[in-house]
Amino acid sequence: MSGSDDMKHILVTGAVGQIGSELTMELRKLHGNENVVAMGRKTKPSDLLGNSGPFEFGDVVDKSSLERIVKDHDIDTIYHMAAILSGDGEKNPQLAYNVNMNGLYNVLELAREKEMTRVMVPSSIAAFGPTTPKENTPQETILKPTTMYGLTKVAGELLADYYFKRFQVDVRGLRYPGIISSETLPGGGTTDYAVEIFYEAIKNKKYNCFVREDTVLPMMYMPDCINATIDLMNADVNKLVHHSDFNLGALSFSAGQLAAEIRKHIPEFTVTYEPDFRQAIADSWPRTIDDSAARAEWGWKPTYGLEKMTVDMIEKLSKKLL
Ligand code: SER
Repeated sequence: MSGSDDMKHILVTGAVGQIGSELTMELRKLHGNENVVAMGRKTKPSDLLGNSGPFEFGDVVDKSSLERIVKDHDIDTIYHMAAILSGDGEKNPQLAYNVNMNGLYNVLELAREKEMTRVMVPSSIAAFGPTTPKENTPQETILKPTTMYGLTKVAGELLADYYFKRFQVDVRGLRYPGIISSETLPGGGTTDYAVEIFYEAIKNKKYNCFVREDTVLPMMYMPDCINATIDLMNADVNKLVHHSDFNLGALSFSAGQLAAEIRKHIPEFTVTYEPDFRQAIADSWPRTIDDSAARAEWGWKPTYGLEKMTVDMIEKLSKKLL
């Protein structure tokens, strides 16, 4: 099955989060406001998110709350964006395991039981580890992460592929790099510095960065992230060789290079570097990604480079913060 006609009633978990909040609004544009249900656990949605379409409080680890929402809204498609990210996962590994594993299991089981059309389950560059090749990291490679977040992502990829083969649940997923965005702040991740740095540059003209200046990580601007997510969900399943583990590349830069790019627009901006526990996490991840499988199987192509992304971020955030 291809196209989006068979995805009529969509649920977005983690809809108040960094990706979920923008993804929900884009899906509402495409499928109609009333057909896209945003679900969050505790945080109140923005007025835009809360008022533009249905919003439900619920917890992915509580299957009965998920089940009620799915039933009430006749859900046939889930974008499962709820997760505990790498930094927060190291502070509370038990919570990360519970949310990332049991939450995913509940979503997949519901999709199986209700014979849903499609499920999106994001993975991450955190699925890689210190023994993975760091440059041009291949699609098929060593997956031995050292964070709780990373190991739940590897298990999640395998579980999702298992549901596809064993139960014919059409699950799809991407290994997101760090996502840079101007609407909702990320929370609890290692790549969060690349968003915080813009806020601080604009508000205070200085930033104390929690990774070293020479730390290179794969990143992506939100418009590309949203396009990738929706394009993969709309791809013809017959053309997909992979399902839940697509490498996804866009940008790769060091913290120092990002600071220099921002300085082109805000010359007085200064950065100090004070690596914390997240440095070790960053050091265990790749620097650049080979995403040729995504390009070949569903036509992935990023549109934002470092320069264009920086200009857009500064313009959007200046309007919001100044
Ligand atoms: N942005 C995530 C994190 O830093 C990686 O997927 O944890």
